[in-house]
Amino acid sequence: MGGDTAAPDRPEALAGCTVVLGVTGGISAYKAVEVCRQLVDLGAHVVPVLTEDASRFVGETTFSALASERVRTSLFDDADPIPHTRLGRSADLVLVAPATAKLLGKYAAGISDDLLTATLLATGAPVVLAPAMHTEMWEHPAVVENVATLRRRGVHVVEPDTGRLAGGDVGAGRLAEPSRIVAAVLHMLQVPSASTPPDLAGVRVLVTAGGTREPIDPVRFIGNRSSGKMGHAIAQVAAARGASTTLVTTQGPVSIPGVTAVDVDTAEEMAAAVLAKYDDVDVVVMAAAVADFRPKVAAQEKIKKRDGVPEILLESTPDILAALGERKRAQVLVGFAAETERVREHAAEKLAAKRVDLMVANDVGAADSGFEVDTNRAVLLDSSGASEELPLLTKVELAGVIWDHVGRILRTPVLKRGSS
Ligand code: PMT
Repeated sequence: MGGDTAAPDRPEALAGCTVVLGVTGGISAYKAVEVCRQLVDLGAHVVPVLTEDASRFVGETTFSALASERVRTSLFDDADPIPHTRLGRSADLVLVAPATAKLLGKYAAGISDDLLTATLLATGAPVVLAPAMHTEMWEHPAVVENVATLRRRGVHVVEPDTGRLAGGDVGAGRLAEPSRIVAAVLHMLQVPSASTPPDLAGVRVLVTAGGTREPIDPVRFIGNRSSGKMGHAIAQVAAARGASTTLVTTQGPVSIPGVTAVDVDTAEEMAAAVLAKYDDVDVVVMAAAVADFRPKVAAQEKIKKRDGVPEILLESTPDILAALGERKRAQVLVGFAAETERVREHAAEKLAAKRVDLMVANDVGAADSGFEVDTNRAVLLDSSGASEELPLLTKVELAGVIWDHVGRILRTPVLKRGSS
């Protein structure tokens, strides 16, 4: 473990961040001590939560001595009657290292039978899991499915290493080195590195995310598959690069460091929230999948099946981006165009029609791009006619490229910003 250090050139990179460090019962639990030390060295406030099994492998005293608070082990041994909600709410990030197959299974199934699993369910903060187990367990279909489910829900999983395991076996499933786990924490909290200065300091940005829900009756709605991941990544990166960031999202509650979140459901609510803020921002990024149509009238009571198939009359929702384009003064407007065919062509039409400065032409036809997944493929088109085709990127990486472009537009005098 000697040479394994996390970014020694970034002391205090996590100052002000509270990390709940969950430790479960595996032979590699001893490595969590080093993870804890590295997080504390980076300035994080670390609260260790050990499961009963973890306490068989590592001493509570060791963690209590290293961490910022004493070790918590139980839902009931505290003066605080609801420690899990307090921990979940105070956390900027919850990390579990090592995460056993049991922990993955319980978390994927929504089971909360101890302080750690209850905290995981009670938090809106980003979650990082570093699994460790025998190869046979790591490759078991149940575990593979649980990991896929958790990833789909936005949990960041640090792939285990391949190497020597308990009992002398060799294979995949060894807990990742502490520096890799801590690097994932830094990545999730979008801590700017020395090479990414806060170039958006002083810039006020508004980002939308998620799919709107247009009610049919009190229990049904017209919606879409947008998970909010793309918009949340854009807000997260903007804040990490110093922008004053507001996120209007249908996927709340969310807790992203440095981001003020506003929860909405419908296109009408999103339009009201965005237009209310428009005059006070420099950049708007519309990553939300706003419904184009909504039921003209939403039934007050649940529509009964026995009454037959209802005829639902639809009407258009407000086109928020077009309204922003019409009212645009010096703001930079970024739109997304979700397309499955003739991606560039359709996106270029929307760029002109909605008077945006930058259109992210998003290919949503492939399994690894667009809705719900962690990766995305896009072509950037700007109002001067320039375009850039990007490779498959993670949504956080794509967010970084978008902000690089927006930074260039912001540095261009308004009168020279293209023809829109
Ligand atoms: O949330 P994820 O699961 O991560 O998925 C990301 C995403 C696929 C939703 C995202 O990358 C994306 O492509 N968002 C735009 C989806 C969309 O509504 O595209 P559109 O081509 O229908 O709309 C064009 C633009 O007009 C968009 O910026 C949209 O926000 C905006 N719009 C659309 C309709 C409307 N009534 N008002 C709007 O402002």
